[in-house]
Amino acid sequence: MLRRLHPVQPDSFAFTPANREWALAQISKYPEGRQASAIIPLLWRAQEQEGWLTRPAIEHVAEMLGMPYIRALEVATFYFMFQLAPVGSVAHVQVCGTTTCMICGAEDLVAVCRRRIAPAPHRLSPDGRFSWEEVECLGACANAPMAQIGKDYYEDLTAERLEWILDELAAGRVPTPGPQGGRYASEPAGGRTTLRQFPDSHPEGNASVARALALGDTVKRIDGGEVPLRAPWRDGPSRAAEDVPAPAAVRPPLLAAPRGAGPDDLTRIKGIGPKLEGLLHRLGVFHFDQIAGWGPAEMAWIDDQLEGFRGRAARDAWVAQAKALAGTTG
Ligand code: FES
Repeated sequence: MLRRLHPVQPDSFAFTPANREWALAQISKYPEGRQASAIIPLLWRAQEQEGWLTRPAIEHVAEMLGMPYIRALEVATFYFMFQLAPVGSVAHVQVCGTTTCMICGAEDLVAVCRRRIAPAPHRLSPDGRFSWEEVECLGACANAPMAQIGKDYYEDLTAERLEWILDELAAGRVPTPGPQGGRYASEPAGGRTTLRQFPDSHPEGNASVARALALGDTVKRIDGGEVPLRAPWRDGPSRAAEDVPAPAAVRPPLLAAPRGAGPDDLTRIKGIGPKLEGLLHRLGVFHFDQIAGWGPAEMAWIDDQLEGFRGRAARDAWVAQAKALAGTTG
């Protein structure tokens, strides 16, 4: 299955302040130089906040981790858990279509989704409130057929029960997750045959159901405020690149026009393509020796000007490259 970014994208992405703190805490778990290891938790958090993974979100996460955009895009497009198209504002329904669920009626559930939500997966319902897809085995085969809705499992489903669940969600209510046919967990349909002397430990449902009810975030977007942030090691110096206060920006020496025989070919610097070269020309940067003279304050100023390319100069070590090239061009 080809996984492509959605053709319609928002202009920007930003973590909520609490989610950003959460993200920085995740980054701080990894040793210096290994911040990219936090890519999956950060992409996941961005998706939990927005419902799906937008291109600006992928690029924002890449910038936080000092990674090339393409590396973050590779991760986002590889894992099917990342939604690359908008999902329903109320709920995204993931119907398991693997063997056990299929034998037990998954096709009926898919038919409900096609009729009630959209004829094809990864499409929004006409009111934009629901979406659906078929997924591989979710590991609840003993309670087939089942679907994951938001963060929780709805098991022992029938077409009628799924219709009812969709009605409830549409009405702003969240049905209790877990087995929908009266079973406590995955005991035989006729009742327990062993361990009958022990009572059910959670009268309101099995432990997963009880936890889901306690958290109450089945179909809720995560803004960070609901999750306790535990990262006591961050009381010391942070290892997160974005936690280091940025130097004050200072405008570097700029030129109204290139000197002498014309501008240097700035695209010889790795990370600068024709678009960035054009931007640098418009700013008044034409020569390798100009870039070679930038310090942290000048880099901060350049970063402010390179809308959409923030962090690129530092990440690709433009100054070091320019110094080498300035030496070869005299
Ligand atoms: S086959 Fe559906 S949960 Fe395993």
